[in-house]
This record gives sequence, C-alpha cells and structure tokens, in this order.
Amino acid sequence: MSKVKEVQRAQHHVPDLLKATHATTAANANEYLPNADAEKAPKPSWARQSIPNFPQLSEFEVVRHFTKLSQLNHSIDGGMYPLGSCTMKYNPRINEEVAAMPRFSHMHPYLPQQNVQGTLEVMYLLQQALMDITGMKGCSLHPAAGAQGELAGVKMIRKYHDEKGQTQKKVILVPDSAHGTNPATAALSGFSVKTLNSNADGIITLDEIKDKMDETVAGLMITVPNTLGIFEKEIKEIAGFLHAHDALLYCDGANLNAMVGQVHILNMGVDVMHINLHKTFSTPHGGGGPGSGPVVVSDRLLPYMPNPQVIKKQDGTYALADVEKSIGKYRGFYGNFGMFIRALCYIYAFGRNKLSDISETAVLNANYIKHHLRDFYDLPYTSRTLHEAVFSDKLQQKQNKVKTMDIAKRLMDFGYHPPTVYFPLVVDGALMIEPTESESKAELDRFIATMQQIAQEAKEDPDKVKTAPHRTGIKRLDETLAARKPVLTWNPDEV
Ligand SMILES: Cc1ncc(COP(=O)(O)O)c(C=O)c1O
Repeated sequence: MSKVKEVQRAQHHVPDLLKATHATTAANANEYLPNADAEKAPKPSWARQSIPNFPQLSEFEVVRHFTKLSQLNHSIDGGMYPLGSCTMKYNPRINEEVAAMPRFSHMHPYLPQQNVQGTLEVMYLLQQALMDITGMKGCSLHPAAGAQGELAGVKMIRKYHDEKGQTQKKVILVPDSAHGTNPATAALSGFSVKTLNSNADGIITLDEIKDKMDETVAGLMITVPNTLGIFEKEIKEIAGFLHAHDALLYCDGANLNAMVGQVHILNMGVDVMHINLHKTFSTPHGGGGPGSGPVVVSDRLLPYMPNPQVIKKQDGTYALADVEKSIGKYRGFYGNFGMFIRALCYIYAFGRNKLSDISETAVLNANYIKHHLRDFYDLPYTSRTLHEAVFSDKLQQKQNKVKTMDIAKRLMDFGYHPPTVYFPLVVDGALMIEPTESESKAELDRFIATMQQIAQEAKEDPDKVKTAPHRTGIKRLDETLAARKPVLTWNPDEV
C-alpha cells in the first residue's frame, strides 16, 4: 500500500489521533492503527473471511470519479431542461434548508402522535392548501408519485361503483393524447380502456364522449390542459354528461402548472385529480426525487380516500385518522414527507393571491418559444396552447430526413436537455417543449436561437445533426440495451 493510502486509512482513526497528545502529523498515524495481528485472528463463520476486491483508491480519487460522473449528467441546476409535461422548474434552496431541519428530518414515523404535532401540522396545512388551490373537498398526501395518485384515484372510482353495486361499470375512457400511465392505471385497477379520439383542434369533444358512452362506462381520465398544452374547453359539459350517467371524472393534474391559481378544479366537474408536487410545486425530480402525487377529491369520493388522513381536532391538536370505507394504504407510513415541507414552503412563498404568477409566466414563456419557432418547425396543432408547445420534425424530415431524435441530440451539444420526444402519440415525431416559469428571457432567447440554428443546420449540413451529439461525454446510446442491461457497477479488474 502506498504511503498516501496508508495515511488516508489512518485518518479514519482521527479521534484516536486527537487523544494522543504527541500525534502532530498524519505520518505518525501508523502507531494508532488497530492491532494488525487482530485482523489475522480466525473469524466467526458468519463473518466475511476475506476482504472483497474493492478498488484500492484514495478518497480523492473517489471524489473525482463521482464528481466527473455527476458532471456527465444534465441537471436543472446546470442548464435549461425543457422536458415537456415534466415541468422541470427551479427547486428553491430555501425549501431544501427547511426540509433538512433536524426536527423534521430526524422524525421517526413510529413516534407517538403527541410528539410530532409540528410534523402533522405541516401535513395538515398542505392538505388544506391543496384543497384551497383546487377547490376540492378532500386531500390525501399518500401517493408517492403521479402514477400512484392515478392508481389511488381510479381505485376510489372502482370502490364508488362497487359500493353502489354497479358491477357493469367496467370501462374507463382515455383520450388518444393521454400519458401512458393513464391506460396502464385503468388496466391495473381492473378496468378495460376505450380510447377517445382528439379532434382536429387537439381536444376531446362532448360528441366524442356521447359516441363512446354506454352503461359500462365507469369514468373518464383526462389531462387538463392536455399533453398538447391545449385546455379542454368542453370539460364542464363533459363532466355534466358523465355525471348524468353516474360516471366519474378523473383529471390528470400533471399539467396543473399551466393553470395553478387560475382555475377552480371542482367547478370543472372533477371528482378526483392527482397533483405532482415534483412538478407544479417545485420539489426535485428527474433523478433528484422522490416524487409525491397527492390526490384531491370531490364529495363523491370522500368516503374512499386512502388512509390515514391528518385531521385537526377540536382542541387544536393534530391526529392521524382512518376513513371507514377507505381503499386502504398505498405505501408505507404517510407519504414522502420531505416533499410536503418543500411544497408547502413553495406555496406559502407565493401566497394564495400570487400563485397565478406561476402559471401566467409559464404560459407566457411557452408561447414566446412557440411564436419564435413556428417558422422553423412544423406546428401540427394551431389551437391556443398554455404551458408547452408541441412541434414535429415534419419539415426537417422532408428536407433531409433529419428526425426528432437527431434534433434532440444536437440540442445536447449546446448544453440543453432535450425536450420530450415522440410524445404525445397523436403527433408523429413530436418535440414537446415546456420551459416553465423559471427561465429568464435571456435564456429563452438563447434556446430559441439554438433551435433556429439547428433547423438551419438540418437544411444545410444535415450530417452534423444526424451524427450529434458531438460534445458530450457519451454519444448515442443503444437506449433499449442501456435500459434493459444497465451497467451500474465498476469493477477494477475489468478496466
Ligand atoms: C400527463 C402525465 N400524467 C401522469 C404522469 C405520471 O406522473 P409521475 O411521473 O409522477 O408518476 C406524467 C409524468 O410525466 C405525465 O406527464
């Protein structure tokens, strides 16, 4: 072992060193290492007999390795992350500080309720805030992500019909522009899925619902605004029609950022909606998670909420309470508590009257990009859009067979995370751009100029785009192989 590594090992025993008054330099450390002979003594059978082949690296080498790895990754702190439908907004540092306070972060979920009143209060206040923002009648913070919120929501719809003995209600309607989790959730909850077709303006019409409606329809899952960024303007009429047939309305709230502070969700006729705290309410995601997908419900679904709820008792204290006909628990304990603190800080930082600043700026930013790129990229739907702009590669394909994936990869050369690609499925070669409200005009202008340059290159120097990225540590991956057979460990023998 090199002298440097010996010294570094010795430094693990710094407390011993400190006790030794004459130990003034790390070079003396050997004297304080544990007795080397003890390491040679026979070990009990359950103990490891030999040290595994760990790489023999200094701390400094390890730090450099992980720092380099972290720099290969794109992050919202490193550059714009216009991933459509994902709302990759800035994660304010103050929220991290509050969440890290030991009185929150050191709480154990088994502590008696009287000892965690502050923690319960945070949860109660967040439930109240989410109900206030949406106008809904109940809130469960339980689900760990949007998709799990969907599962809880659709299970509540199932329970609603079961309680009424409506066993014939076996179908959930899902638009063709929906996120894949919607039909997957419906199927996982025991429903079959009937697809609704968007019209030429990119929305679902009441006529389309009427066409697909029969006594088997249990509900509709619809994203508002939808994944094209378009507000479903017939939503109220659709809700009324569904309710007249005792079918319920699930609103996928992944795009709430487009209308937070603007729209009363209950008045839209919604019975249940999940809210991605890691999108609208700025908690970290995209590798920095975990997520959090609270659900808010109308009166119809109040009796079936996931357990437990946080309630405020008459004496002003907080407690966990169960709903009698609950669909049950959806995860261990009470949800991703650290995310609740962050989201609550974010909501309180704006305050009720200023929340609409978020959606107004997000919509403005997306439309600014749309306006400046519409002469460079095909815009398949020309309806008014909110928080995101969905282009396609039609022009670039026609000119020189440059595809969406090529454009996405070329963007990486300029330090941008690519937009969402090939989704929603109703757009061939979709490029779905969502800047969020976090980006400055200067950053939007840089992004626009880059996208315009790529469109120019696709026309004049298509190979440059087709062979991108040129400046990243890793070029084009076999993404299927990478997903199916990820290489997650490093073996020094294989270097
Ligand atoms: C429209 C829509 N619905 C549902 C989800 C699922 O949310 P989560 O990733 O939090 O599970 C997403 C995620 O991006 C989405 O965009």
